[in-house]
Amino acid sequence: MADTIIEVSQLTKHFKGKTAVHKADFKIAKGEIFGLVGQNGAGKSTLLKMIGGLIYPTSGEIKLFDRAMNNNHPYFERIGLLIENAGLFPYYNAYENLDLISILYGLTNRERHIKRVLQLVGLDASNKTKVRNYSMGMKQRLGIAASLIGSPDILILDEPINGLDPQGISEIRKLILDLNKTGITIIISSHILEELSKVATQYAILHQGEIIENHSREQLLLQCEDRIEIEVEKVSSAVSILEEQLNINHYKVISDRIVYVYNSHIENQHIIKSLVENGVSVHSVTKHKQSLEQYFLARIGSEGGSRD
Ligand SMILES: Nc1ncnc2c1ncn2[C@@H]1O[C@H](COP(=O)(O)OP(=O)(O)OP(=O)(O)O)[C@@H](O)[C@H]1O
Ligand SMILES: [Mg+2]
Repeated sequence: MADTIIEVSQLTKHFKGKTAVHKADFKIAKGEIFGLVGQNGAGKSTLLKMIGGLIYPTSGEIKLFDRAMNNNHPYFERIGLLIENAGLFPYYNAYENLDLISILYGLTNRERHIKRVLQLVGLDASNKTKVRNYSMGMKQRLGIAASLIGSPDILILDEPINGLDPQGISEIRKLILDLNKTGITIIISSHILEELSKVATQYAILHQGEIIENHSREQLLLQCEDRIEIEVEKVSSAVSILEEQLNINHYKVISDRIVYVYNSHIENQHIIKSLVENGVSVHSVTKHKQSLEQYFLARIGSEGGSRD
């Protein structure tokens, strides 16, 4: 990947004998929205905390902007974090909260910067309401605003839609897409693949601490696209019949016995008949339709077992 911004290799975290993250490997290119999906306890927050520099890995390496991270890594400052809870001061309003963070960052010209960030996340700088009286959605916006104060290149959002109602979810989704358009690379976690699919351009499935899949958006959608799975004796002869006799062009050869046909309205019986009439021995022809959630559950189910 030419413009890799984050590279994680063999990243592992043990907590007192328990493995929370085990040998994670992935790369994230500049400008991506990287979606990390996993069930409760899969290791999402632990992985994101290591990338954000909040906890040390037990082993493995994180490279940011092509440089290995360590204590003195100057690029930590280029990451904005919203992990688990936003650490907001409940008795201050939005502006005051961001002002405190700006002071910690040593920013000059704070007022202009804070107003710009508040506008970016859709909060009103003149609103004097204390954060303790905010709705979940507003708190989440302010949490994202807080993570933007340092003008990061990378934004890490750990389950940013947790606890939000459908309107709140769609607003945060739009905000994530808008921030990404300004050039920020985003890492976002969720336990709902369907939700991630509305924003993410790259996906990793984390299960019991291990990255069990890593897909581009196109690859993921292809996995779940309606398809007919055909198992035959010899795929090469089947493919020429699919093309020449049935005019099927959208297919993928999976192995020397299996081919997937996408977006075809041709009946299974018709496919079987054509193949058999042309001397191809057919083992099975099945229609396959799967939602992203079914796909996710099948993937983590199929990995089975526990390391503990
Ligand atoms: N500080 C810690 N000390 C001991 N064990 C921990 C610690 N932090 C996390 N763990 C364990 O590591 C595993 C992964 O936890 P983690 O919080 O990373 O999962 P998660 O995917 O973020 O889950 P959730 O969806 O519930 O937020 C869990 O079994 C958890 O109990
Ligand atoms: Mg978590």
